[in-house]
Amino acid sequence: MKKYIFIFFVLFYADIGLAHSHYPITRDSLEAIKNGKVLYNQYCASCHQPNLAGAANWQGLDEDGHRKAPPLNGTGHTWHHTDELLHRMIKYGFVKLIKNYEGKMMGFGDKISDEGIDNILSYIKSYWKDDIYEYHLEMSK
Ligand code: HEC
Repeated sequence: MKKYIFIFFVLFYADIGLAHSHYPITRDSLEAIKNGKVLYNQYCASCHQPNLAGAANWQGLDEDGHRKAPPLNGTGHTWHHTDELLHRMIKYGFVKLIKNYEGKMMGFGDKISDEGIDNILSYIKSYWKDDIYEYHLEMSK
């Protein structure tokens, strides 16, 4: 019995190790950025805009009373969240993170793979100023 508990813990920690091993997400790979851009334009640009600047007057509400898509280009607060949280926001949407969420940021986990989501994050980071990018790398370690 003890042996099984031991194995369970080994697997559990190995899994955590694996899950975190690819953070922080960098913008070092042009391949990743290119792929991220294709996915971004397909799935995200309609709300966050092709240049990542977010909706016009994004701090206000839209005609349905929902929040508008914020900029992802480093001028908003995207970089205040770790890679892990950003990944989860994109994968599961805000529905899984905020109780009774009724806004428009839905999850893309059924359309985009984990790797694709991380590629999008590489692309998003390619827009960030160096100081924000460096800060975020430290924070996401
Ligand atoms: C239908 C419009 C829409 C689409 C499509 C969309 N988003 Fe969003 N997104 C939003 C809205 C609205 C918010 C703000 C959520 C809120 O506060 O209710 C948001 C928030 C976010 C945030 C949090 C930003 C921050 O500064 O806190 C990230 C990251 C994000 N979206 C990434 C993406 C990515 C990546 C895609 C494409 C895979 C995407 N979104 C597609 C509307 C959209």
